[in-house]
Amino acid sequence: MSRIRTAALMKMKREGVKITALTAYDASFAKLIAEAGVDVMLVGDSLGMVLQGHDSTLPVTVADVAYHTRCVRAGAPEAFVIADMPFMSYPDVASACEHAAELMRAGANMVKLEGETWLVPIVEALTRQGIPVCAHLGLLPQSVNVIGGYKIQGREEAAADQMIAHAKALEAAGAQLLVVECIPATLGARVSASLTIPVIGIGAGNQTDGQILVMHDMLGLNADYLPKFTKNFLQGSDSLDAAIRAYVAEVRSGEFPGPEHTFN
Ligand code: KIV
Ligand code: NA
Repeated sequence: MSRIRTAALMKMKREGVKITALTAYDASFAKLIAEAGVDVMLVGDSLGMVLQGHDSTLPVTVADVAYHTRCVRAGAPEAFVIADMPFMSYPDVASACEHAAELMRAGANMVKLEGETWLVPIVEALTRQGIPVCAHLGLLPQSVNVIGGYKIQGREEAAADQMIAHAKALEAAGAQLLVVECIPATLGARVSASLTIPVIGIGAGNQTDGQILVMHDMLGLNADYLPKFTKNFLQGSDSLDAAIRAYVAEVRSGEFPGPEHTFN
């Protein structure tokens, strides 16, 4: 199967086919995830927590993400792979371009950046240079020290309206995909309906154009702390492959995320 590119994801949105995404960090899981039919893989800076054991994503470097992107690419040569731009790797246009290029050379098809309208010139520059961008709004884990914790975003009407405006500005700047994290389901639905580009949610209800989860969470590996919005798909499955296929099936059918995984 050829690589799914942004045009194919746009088509899925138009046709109402839910996009499935999972994080991947190594070749073995990337192969498994690709074979189970997941549309998008993210080399997330969540690797700082699930692989490196830190309590935030801040210690992750560009070299770390590039290393894991090469591993994922080796395991899944045809997959559509997004690489996270880690903390402080995009404070300005020049450093964003340099670091995004490093991740593209490592095998990424797209890079993801956390932030709102201050990212507009960076998204424009990356897109102009041939680097597709996925924006990330809502809870921004790289800003956890400013936000003051991992909490739901966009609850107040003014904040919700602002997030819609930010999403539209990032789309206008050239972003070809958007991730929204930890927002009320009603806002997840609104953002998705307001944009032409696909919106992938995590803890954003089941009305977004697709879903993403951290692989370790959906396999029940992060046993100390399972966020409300995740589900252990290994429970009731007899293999890793079956668990990933169950996730794909439940996202496609709209069964996952259910009300118990959703913020209102
Ligand atoms: O780093 C990550 O895994 C992410 C997803 C949670 C969207 O950014
Ligand atoms: Na991330």
